[in-house]
Amino acid sequence: MPSYRIEGGSPLRGTIRASGAKNAATKQIVAALLTDDEVVLDNVPRIGDVTVTIDMCKALGAEVEVHGETIRMRAATVSSGEVPVAFSGVNRIPVLMVGPLLHRYGRASVPLVGGDAIGARPIDFHMDALRRLGASVALEGGVWRAEAKRLHGALIDLPYPSVGATESALLSSVLAEGTTVIKNAAVEPEIVDLILLLQKMGALITVEVDRSIVVEGVSRLRGARHRIIGDRIEVASFAAAAVASNGNVLIEGAEQATITTFLNALRRVGGEFEVTPDGVRFFRGGELRSTTVETDVHPGFATDWQQPFVVLLTQARGLSVVHETVHERRFGYTAELRAMGATIEVYTACLGGRPCRYRYGDHPHSCLVQGPTHLRGTTMQIPDLRAGFSYLLAACVASGLSVIDGAHYVERGYSDIPGKITQLGGRISAS
Ligand code: EPU
Repeated sequence: MPSYRIEGGSPLRGTIRASGAKNAATKQIVAALLTDDEVVLDNVPRIGDVTVTIDMCKALGAEVEVHGETIRMRAATVSSGEVPVAFSGVNRIPVLMVGPLLHRYGRASVPLVGGDAIGARPIDFHMDALRRLGASVALEGGVWRAEAKRLHGALIDLPYPSVGATESALLSSVLAEGTTVIKNAAVEPEIVDLILLLQKMGALITVEVDRSIVVEGVSRLRGARHRIIGDRIEVASFAAAAVASNGNVLIEGAEQATITTFLNALRRVGGEFEVTPDGVRFFRGGELRSTTVETDVHPGFATDWQQPFVVLLTQARGLSVVHETVHERRFGYTAELRAMGATIEVYTACLGGRPCRYRYGDHPHSCLVQGPTHLRGTTMQIPDLRAGFSYLLAACVASGLSVIDGAHYVERGYSDIPGKITQLGGRISAS
């Protein structure tokens, strides 16, 4: 299994460029299935999740050419509504293909979704949305099968502003007959970026002030060219690395507007930043101090920023409180940080903020971090993508050697991590 070796202890200094957003790119590749014309996507990150999503589209018969960070896709040659079961469990994307495939064929079959084991992650909202739009959907032998002569507009009131369910509803309703209203929709920057591509393709989508999205179905979509938004999760991850290691990092392409809540939290903890014409520079503003953070849907503090931020908090003076309200089981990685010397306790209670939907039951979704602590290098096994980055960050801050197994988890979502850490003076090798 591929692994990293990191000799820690040196501050990260220098300049890197933010890649395109993983959670925008994969969805926009699916959107390309909605037209026979060519869709060109620029700033596509070179990561495992993009590769596997392209492979799924190719398996359906689409033509996809990859030239560096630009991909050209033509779905006119798609000859099947069946995503092969070999893609079962690889990521969250297959379920997003149901709507586009129904528009093409009137039937679709997709394997079970996978993704990181950070909670139950059901897809009931997706299926409910598809049924409201007129599809019949059933799970048969480990495969979701759906049928619909023509999807029609509907009212979809999401019980929770799920990113994936909002995207499912969007991708299924743009070509439906009539108007769809998605209430309590998620409005993450990656969703807005998907809407921008769909608008270029001819879709009629309005985001209302109350977080409802209104989609007026059109009969045809055309090709378009779109540059994928920068990855705000990668930006926050390296920003936390810069401040935790007492370094100074300019991230070109970082967009202030997509990380405002993160910037507030960073400043409260003693981190500083400077917005430049090229991006955002991150460094320490003084002694690091403890804080309280609660994750939430956008524009709240993103759940995918939580793990690198916790590593940063291990370097801050005092007792910090972190309440994870999006995924119910996202603190598993803290055990390895404890093994490195961090003082972190995980609790099932809602600490530090409002009670959330995980207040009852056995959900380890809050933690206390006592800092500052000296971290020591160790041997670690990466359990999932964001946990993986937090291990790399902790290893850069720690004294001594860390050996981190499971590099493929990180490479699923971060482009050229060893290259970027090396560029910042970190001592990392991949094998
Ligand atoms: N939920 C349901 N039913 C559903 C859908 C969601 O109960 O049908 C619940 C989930 O269990 C979870 C919450 O709603 O508790 C939020 O889930 P959401 O659907 O928003 O998440 P997702 O679409 O599966 C995306 C990102 C995640 C990110 C979350 C939240 C992708 C591929 N993944 O997941 O990113 O944490 O939104 O922002 O877009 C990552 O990149 O490492 C990652 C895990």
